[in-house]
Amino acid sequence: MSVTHIPVLPEEVLTYLNPKSGGLYVDATIGLGGHSLSILQKSTPAGKLIGIDQDDLALSKCEKQLKVFKNRFKLIHGNFSDLQELLELQGVSKVDGVLFDLGVSTFQLDTPERGFSFQHNGPLDMRMDQQMPIPASDIVNESTAKSLLKIFSEYGEERYAKLIAQRIVESRSAEPITTTQQLTKIVESAIPRKSKNRKSDFQQRRIHPATRVFQALRIAVNDELKNLKRGIDAAVSVLKKDGCLCMISFHSLEDRIVKQKFQFYAKTCICSPKAPICVCNHQQKLKVITRRPILTSANEIDINPRSRSAKMRVAVRV
Ligand SMILES: C[S@@+](CC[C@H](N)C(=O)[O-])C[C@H]1O[C@@H](n2cnc3c(N)ncnc32)[C@H](O)[C@@H]1O
Repeated sequence: MSVTHIPVLPEEVLTYLNPKSGGLYVDATIGLGGHSLSILQKSTPAGKLIGIDQDDLALSKCEKQLKVFKNRFKLIHGNFSDLQELLELQGVSKVDGVLFDLGVSTFQLDTPERGFSFQHNGPLDMRMDQQMPIPASDIVNESTAKSLLKIFSEYGEERYAKLIAQRIVESRSAEPITTTQQLTKIVESAIPRKSKNRKSDFQQRRIHPATRVFQALRIAVNDELKNLKRGIDAAVSVLKKDGCLCMISFHSLEDRIVKQKFQFYAKTCICSPKAPICVCNHQQKLKVITRRPILTSANEIDINPRSRSAKMRVAVRV
């Protein structure tokens, strides 16, 4: 099956990042290279790009997509939480712009063997980096009910987290849960019937009962929130003065982290308001450009429905 990925907010990314010939840019989540392609085009003839992804399969597709740009790009397999070290290994200490387009790509979601989606049957895997040791099935089969409850309620904000966790524990004592379809059926069976009929949950918002559970497991398997915090810190350290940081997120937990990190780095002082004088030595590192996040237009959502929950925040290094 051939699956591609349509980049989200493409014009907006180019407007803010404003790639120039001679500049060096990092795409910290290069995926299939949709955004990078336009960054390289816009920065012709001498703009350069370093693309990072933890997914080897995505990187090999990306390599083909960008090959016309020859030596103007370099792809690195790694986690963006190690961004600073990964750049140092390339002899790079400062860059002109960094883009994060978080989450999974359509390519990953629509490849059943990766186990990211309840819409396809496949192994319950969900690892973005296949070299990581723990697939989703290990978490589902080995975690206590309490840990599962925590994952589903914290990362999925799932109101029936407790019922779903209990049903998983019951089901796995009969047979291990190893496929996406098994888990989807277990989640469906755990949701109270009256809720399945509630217009607000499933018809109006058209959210399948397994959506939040799959999202929560994916976040846990890939340790996404911790990596995001470390990734932003690293990006701030490698940006040149006036360098631009573009962050595209797809759910509220990610967006909250981006917003809080931006607020922290935009402060000139982090002393308690009661402190008589400033003793914190905190230095402002970012200026936030987007007071509110940029959202996708109705037109973009028509062409690319996956873009509907995207939010982009932008800051520049001071
Ligand atoms: C939404 S896709 C990016 C799509 C890309 N902008 C494009 O236009 O093709 C997100 C990509 O980020 C990668 N990714 C997510 N978290 C990562 C992390 N912590 N480190 C490195 N790559 C990550 C995923 O493997 C995926 O390929």
